[in-house]
Amino acid sequence: MPHRPYIVGNWKMNGVRAMLAEARAIDRAAARYPDVQVALAPPFTLIGTLREAVTAMGIGGQDCHAQAKGAHTGDVSAPMLVDTGADFVILGHSERRKDHAEGDALVQAKADAALSAGLGVIVCVGETLDERDAGKAVAVVAGQVDGSLPAGEGAGDAVAAGKVSVAYEPVWAIGTGRVAAVEDVVTMHAAIRERLLALYGEAGAKVRILYGGSVNAGNAAELLAAEGVGGALVGGASLTAEAFLPIVAAAGTGEA
Ligand code: PGA
Repeated sequence: MPHRPYIVGNWKMNGVRAMLAEARAIDRAAARYPDVQVALAPPFTLIGTLREAVTAMGIGGQDCHAQAKGAHTGDVSAPMLVDTGADFVILGHSERRKDHAEGDALVQAKADAALSAGLGVIVCVGETLDERDAGKAVAVVAGQVDGSLPAGEGAGDAVAAGKVSVAYEPVWAIGTGRVAAVEDVVTMHAAIRERLLALYGEAGAKVRILYGGSVNAGNAAELLAAEGVGGALVGGASLTAEAFLPIVAAAGTGEA
């Protein structure tokens, strides 16, 4: 793997203060694997609390608004995430794209806003099962990369600084226990890299491309060893330290 592997837990709409012990245990493991970049994205309500509770891992949000402030009831802006202690934000997750009808242009605007606020971003892309069955997976994902990745002033510098990651998450593999075949992951990651190089020139090589979708202790080692896989975005298996730690271990050597 050319980059330091990035293992990110996405707690989605799970997590109350009773889960702080899990986050602390994950953080202790992060400290034991300095060659792995470990991060958690809890719900907004826990970002500040987790920031105070952990030392070794990154803490991020799962969405942000494209505007910095204003009359947008219920929304949270990128500067607010920074203010509460977040380092990064996940954007364009398929659950946001579906539940909140987020399209590529909105995801891109959010990514630009997040970079302006100083956050790292993880932009999610991925095809549906119908799109894969129709042989359109690569075209769909390439279109999402072109349309959703940051394009504003400063985007190129942020990419060159390693602040931008892409998560390839086939929609049919999320929360289903069905993992994409390693050869399909390798093919897709290569296609994404090609688009990144086209968008950002050689700085596009600095973008880590994570795989997401039913990653667990049993399949992490094989996925993380695959060509072009720079880490994992993990949902269900990030909710307990017991499930998440083997994934961190699979990404690193543990040699401090
Ligand atoms: P999962 O979710 O690991 O539960 O499949 C991954 C994600 O949606 O980021």
